Amino acid sequence: MKSVYVGMSADIIHTGHLNIINKAAKLGTVVVGVLTDKAIASYKRLPYLEYAQRKKIVESIKGVDRVVPQPTLDYRPNLRELKPDYVVHGDDWREGIQQKTRQQVIDTLALWGGKLVEVPYTKGISSTLLNKAVKEIGTTPEIRLKLLRRLLNAGKLVRILEAHSGLTGLIIEHTKIDHNGETREFDGMWASSLTDSTLKGKPDIEAVDITSRISNINDLMEVTTKPVIFDGDTGGKPEHLVFTIRTLERLGVSAIIIEDKTGLKKNSLLGIDATQTQEEPEVFAAKITAGKKAQVTEDFMIIARIESLILKAGLDDAIKRAKAYIRAGADGIMIHSKEKTADEILQFCHLYKKAKLEAPLVVVPSTYDKVDEDELKKAGVSIVIYANQLLRSAYPAMVKTAESILRHQRAFEAREHMMTIKEIIHLIPGGY
Ligand code: SPV
Ligand code: MG
Repeated sequence: MKSVYVGMSADIIHTGHLNIINKAAKLGTVVVGVLTDKAIASYKRLPYLEYAQRKKIVESIKGVDRVVPQPTLDYRPNLRELKPDYVVHGDDWREGIQQKTRQQVIDTLALWGGKLVEVPYTKGISSTLLNKAVKEIGTTPEIRLKLLRRLLNAGKLVRILEAHSGLTGLIIEHTKIDHNGETREFDGMWASSLTDSTLKGKPDIEAVDITSRISNINDLMEVTTKPVIFDGDTGGKPEHLVFTIRTLERLGVSAIIIEDKTGLKKNSLLGIDATQTQEEPEVFAAKITAGKKAQVTEDFMIIARIESLILKAGLDDAIKRAKAYIRAGADGIMIHSKEKTADEILQFCHLYKKAKLEAPLVVVPSTYDKVDEDELKKAGVSIVIYANQLLRSAYPAMVKTAESILRHQRAFEAREHMMTIKEIIHLIPGGY
């Protein structure tokens, strides 16, 4: 009996997959290499279903004899181990980004006389349309909540952008670019206290109450499926924080970030120009522990935000606090800075690594915005949050239009800065 290898993601199974498996089954014993979350996340969005679920589904397909994990996009490690007589694949990879992978498969099989068999691409099936349909179904709080941990486990730098409304949620949900064959998009949303307060015309001093903040994230969750990280400011009193956490979990929020300040909280980017006091590490650690005790799900994360660099308390203080907060149960550490360069953040990352601290590290490059994702990833950062850029770009555009109308006493001149009426009424499906 000949052996056959088929590699697939198997996230949304369609007749195209079945055609390939049928063909493979005619050639011999079929081993399917199901790509792990990590392998898929290396070139596109995380799959809807976890590896264990996808494995179970593929195992149940007629014609499949065995399923093994394919831990990389590269087929070669599995091929070298299994030495199959055939690899079966759709012929759609002859062009585009997968050409290289295809050639590697051909060359590797040739080492033991194996052959690539290609099945004509199944017409009438569009993964893009299937994806769109799945997005339209939406998600459940449980699935969404788990997504952040799944992204972290996939080992890629998690890229988060600020959302302050349903509309900005939609931008984060749908904006995609193709970069040398890799589909790039945002992994999730940051419910920023700065932009939520600003949107309401209020200062960022915890004056917008939790009920209002929750109502705002409800708007963005209603029209999206990606994970949400909630900016919890100081978290308030521990006795109040426990209720906030349960509400967030019930909604499907993946994490809360709370900062180690006390008294009237001011925005961190004011630094020591504003009177702000850092909480005693023991007191803040106790708040984290109270929060961890309150959560109901296993997956919800409490990320402790350290303000030592903002308040000029130094790197040693920051590392000391990181240790204390992780000991208290923090699932991650956010280190903040308002310097113009990333130097102190990178120094912190270095010390964090040296201290063998392993909780995921979160950074917010608002002022030090020249540092790029590659550099942050190399330094050991797990999550990057672009915390305010959408609102910061919307406001000047709106002011410009308002001034133009005043200047010209009509709206015509502002047209060039605006989307058309047709574009706005067609932006949100279902209204026409
Ligand atoms: C926010 O976006 O509200 C933050 C980050 O907490 S910062 O504005 O830099 O404090
Ligand atoms: Mg904030």
